[in-house]
Amino acid sequence: MKANDFPFDSQQSLIIEQLFESLDVSKLYWLHGYIQALIQSRVDKPAKQIPEKPQITVLFGTHTGNSRKIAVKLHQQLEEAGHAARITDIADFKGRDIKSEKVLLLIISTHGEGQPPLAAEDFYEYLHSNRPPALSDLSYAILGLGDKSYFHFCKTGADFDLRFEQLGANRLLPRLECDVDYGKASEQWMKDILQSLSHLASNVPVTGKSEIIRPSVVLPTRENPIEAIVLDKIKLTGRNSEKNTYHIELQLPSEQMIYEPGDSVGIIPGNNQSLVGEIIHLLKAVPEMPVVFENSSGSLGNILAQEVELTKLTRENLEKYNEKAGNKELTLLTQDLNQLSRFLFGSTWADVLRLYPGNISAEDFLSMVRSIQPRLYSISSSARANPGEVHLTVSQLNYHLHGLSHQGICSTYLSELPENQEKIRMFFEANDVFRLPSHDTDIIMIGPGTGVAPFRAFMQDREDAGATGKNWLFFGDQRFTADFLYQTEWQEWHRKSLLHRIDLAFSRDQQHKIYVQHRLLEKSRDVYGWLENGAKIYVCGDMKRMSPDVHRTFVEIVSREGGISIEKAQDYVKTLRKQKRYLEDVY
Ligand SMILES: Cc1cc2nc3c(=O)[nH]c(=O)nc-3n(C[C@H](O)[C@H](O)[C@H](O)COP(=O)(O)OP(=O)(O)OC[C@H]3O[C@@H](n4cnc5c(N)ncnc54)[C@H](O)[C@@H]3O)c2cc1C
Ligand SMILES: Cc1cc2nc3c(=O)[nH]c(=O)nc-3n(C[C@H](O)[C@H](O)[C@H](O)COP(=O)(O)O)c2cc1C
Repeated sequence: MKANDFPFDSQQSLIIEQLFESLDVSKLYWLHGYIQALIQSRVDKPAKQIPEKPQITVLFGTHTGNSRKIAVKLHQQLEEAGHAARITDIADFKGRDIKSEKVLLLIISTHGEGQPPLAAEDFYEYLHSNRPPALSDLSYAILGLGDKSYFHFCKTGADFDLRFEQLGANRLLPRLECDVDYGKASEQWMKDILQSLSHLASNVPVTGKSEIIRPSVVLPTRENPIEAIVLDKIKLTGRNSEKNTYHIELQLPSEQMIYEPGDSVGIIPGNNQSLVGEIIHLLKAVPEMPVVFENSSGSLGNILAQEVELTKLTRENLEKYNEKAGNKELTLLTQDLNQLSRFLFGSTWADVLRLYPGNISAEDFLSMVRSIQPRLYSISSSARANPGEVHLTVSQLNYHLHGLSHQGICSTYLSELPENQEKIRMFFEANDVFRLPSHDTDIIMIGPGTGVAPFRAFMQDREDAGATGKNWLFFGDQRFTADFLYQTEWQEWHRKSLLHRIDLAFSRDQQHKIYVQHRLLEKSRDVYGWLENGAKIYVCGDMKRMSPDVHRTFVEIVSREGGISIEKAQDYVKTLRKQKRYLEDVY
């Protein structure tokens, strides 16, 4: 086909490319039939009338796909209500185009430590520079996505809101900030948006609309989790390891539950009994005491064990607590943001009750806590290679704080599960960004520690699909003999020439520390060669140190091997990220 025969604009071709990349052969067949039926149903029907310039832009800025999901729903609802609306990824939105927008609905998450998702960086920078014009003709609304256990909750949404206000734009609705359970609140927000824009809806009836055919088995969601059976639990780390890392296999209720490599599972844990006991003791209560918490009632012991978040505390939690406790030292702590943020990292409710005591009853306590939060785990299996199963790779979190040993709730819950027939509550969390490319594209996977989990899924899937693209893994941990997760599987893939290259970095096997970024640099010429050949880069694992170090190393590799300045190399890597050829799934 000649280039000018291609009938799609850049936004459409991006959507098509992303969709096709994520589909396997069976789904492509399904889509083939669906499109044929759709064409048939539209023949002879009047085409939908689309006004030339959409009046409403739904703009989303996402890293893991949640904002996109909400944006897609909102866009669909706007169209169904007769609005002329378009949907745009903020990565493709040119700053200077803001001046021609009339109604902008922005759905944006916060990442890193209070930063915009990478896709939004350029627009964020533009808007916060002195270049944007006055925006008094613009009406806007913002839905911020975030997680209250992060110190800078929904900061990006708030930053955009403030900036739009400073530039004179008109706020349609107060900004909504959503915690991880954004389902209900975002649905209500969409209703409010439709209400506030009802005067703009055109009377053009939407014709030729086809019925949407849904897959027969719907994957469980955060709002509707299922119970999966624990099939197996195997310790991956050896006896002389400092870590306890487990491979856990879960059985799903149906083999039709097809998740994609790159997706995660959300696990709703139960709390550790000794922490529950300590909190009951500090509240001077007894486990049998009948209590009510949100929509549940039961004994204090059971409610604390099953329903309440006891470890991931928020600033709001502490402020509410201190309204009742009136503890002077805690007042000082909450006023010093640096100290507060250090305290929140890892402290439990038992630490608060012990270190900052107050006259708090069990009922008071239940009025200030939040419900237990699911924890996400990258899926380490391919649904196609293991129908009806989902595998996880879980490292138990242990640390010392306030002079005491502490355990992470969910990783301990999973590490200590009995093997037979124990059921756990779980759901799927799709990651539409962290996806395998077409079968013939090369990939470089960088996944130290549990960061290797999605790459096991990638390899299983590529093997199952007979993908021809080359695969290169960079893995690292503390010691070769104790911490080489899935060693035999990698060796077997290497033997079968499916894993073309593997580079290992065991930090404690020699005097000086060696990490994956050092191995990358050692192989810089080949890494650059793969990059120039179109390889896609995947980074998974530690967000604080590993992923920034790996990013810096890529810049260094490009500068060194491409013979360009560091600034130009930064632009090169930035472009890779924008093209979704440098993807991160970090935590
Ligand atoms: C997308 C995604 C994928 C993930 N994939 C995996 C995976 O494949 N495997 C895996 O094992 N984990 C994975 N995680 C991490 C996982 O979700 C949990 O965060 C982890 O298991 C700890 O949860 P927990 O309930 O055991 O600890 P929590 O009870 O949540 O721990 C309490 C708090 O301790 C703090 N803390 C953490 N480390 C320390 C420390 N060293 N010192 C002091 N305080 C500390 C934190 O503030 C944490 O919130 C992933 C996370 C995300 C977001
Ligand atoms: C590595 C990481 C860092 C995060 N940092 C923050 C943060 O600083 N503030 C916040 O409110 N939420 C933070 N979040 C939570 C996300 O904003 C939240 O999961 C959101 O639903 C993601 O939406 P998205 O999929 O559209 O990117 C973080 C999440 C991850 C995985």
